[in-house]
Amino acid sequence: MAIFVKGVIFEGVDTTAPDCWHIDAYMARGGYQALKKILDNKMPQEDVIAEVKNSGLRGRGGAGFPTGLKWSFMPRSFPGDKYVVCNTDEGEPGTFKDRDILLYNPHALIEGMIIAGYAMGCKAGYNYIHGEIFEAYELFEAALDEARKAGFLGQNILGTDFSFDLFAHHGYGAYICGEETALLESLEGKKGQPRFKPPFPASFGLYGKPTTINNTESFASVPFIIRDGGQKFLEAGKPNNGGTKLFSISGHVNRPGNYEIPLGTPFATLLEMAGGMKDGKKLKAVIPGGSSAPVLPGEVMMELTMDYDSIAKAGSMLGSGAVIVMNEDVCMVKALERLAYFYHEESCGQCTPCREGTGWLYKVIHRIANGEGREGDLELLESVGNNMAGRTICALADAAVFPVRSFTKHFRHEFEHLIEHKKSLVDHKWC
Ligand SMILES: Cc1cc2nc3c(=O)[nH]c(=O)nc-3n(C[C@H](O)[C@H](O)[C@H](O)COP(=O)(O)O)c2cc1C
Ligand code: SF4
Repeated sequence: MAIFVKGVIFEGVDTTAPDCWHIDAYMARGGYQALKKILDNKMPQEDVIAEVKNSGLRGRGGAGFPTGLKWSFMPRSFPGDKYVVCNTDEGEPGTFKDRDILLYNPHALIEGMIIAGYAMGCKAGYNYIHGEIFEAYELFEAALDEARKAGFLGQNILGTDFSFDLFAHHGYGAYICGEETALLESLEGKKGQPRFKPPFPASFGLYGKPTTINNTESFASVPFIIRDGGQKFLEAGKPNNGGTKLFSISGHVNRPGNYEIPLGTPFATLLEMAGGMKDGKKLKAVIPGGSSAPVLPGEVMMELTMDYDSIAKAGSMLGSGAVIVMNEDVCMVKALERLAYFYHEESCGQCTPCREGTGWLYKVIHRIANGEGREGDLELLESVGNNMAGRTICALADAAVFPVRSFTKHFRHEFEHLIEHKKSLVDHKWC
């Protein structure tokens, strides 16, 4: 995917140049200066964490949890091994940004993870990479080799007493392996199923040791924060929503792709950058943060800015930054049917409400979409959803319920029409 507008991660990266990912190109852009700054100045670990806290960086994997705060949860005086783990599982429908970081600027991630290892006293880190992106995996391995040869990884980094190594791990292509504790299980060689929390990974993570897990984009933002200062990162976005962020835009726009823009940018501006609506069609709906984020009507989105607080206030989530744009030809019942099928397929099956509920949701939506809906089906969907959300080991069940609730709330008339007339309000051009 092309990257169209650039912020703290992709600034200066010529993604059309085949060698843009190499260490020489990265260092020519100021790469590894942040690590050198820390090591040359023997920066205390707590100062590194404080800088990340000051930056207002919020986790780019979905929940938007403050990264610096998460780092501060790692037990400082733990006597044994501790780990940092990067989540490049990227299985959320609509999201395709992390693979571009690996393909075009992998050393930003490597440097960010080394800094994280330093700040939290870890000797090893792992990057768990989605099972279907082989090219990105191989390229990341090659970048790791370059970093090792340059002395940025391994024993006594740049002649100091800090040692840290980093390894890539190929995932298995299951969406659930992106959930942090399922990822840890999978990394340990077991079936990728989420663990009960607590205990949280900060106390019981990889191999039962304290572990911090962050998204690829979160780690890749760190070198800028340390090199140029947390304040500058914060100012690149808006208060409580620091920095620039990658948005993966897909759907009915003229120029789908990744856009790295300041948090707080109006959605209308982002849509314009993406070339506007394809074929001049009307904007109907937007899923602003990946398939599990509640859908919002187009007219609501046009008034919002792209940041965590603004999207949450409107009743949705910025999530992973995957913006799915739908035009007037989309039958919202059909669209929801597709999403419901995905969650049903991807449930790991451990919890009864999720295993049975996702199947139930799909079956009811499927029959409505196919002109076999019954009176009371919308109430049934609500009741099944209420018995799933918040009652399971992990958030996949919630992720399955949010689209159902929001589609049936904002586009209820389409569901009602299909149940009553056995025919979609929209001529099914989209499907
Ligand atoms: C079902 C499910 C799938 C997830 N998939 C991903 C993923 O592919 N990538 C990711 O970074 N986070 C994913 N997450 C969120 C992670 O559990 C975790 O919160 C995140 O990696 C933390 O990184 P961050 O704080 O930097 O955002 C998923 C969560 C759930 C419940
Ligand atoms: S909520 Fe679903 S995906 Fe998550 S652990 Fe339970 S069954 Fe598995």
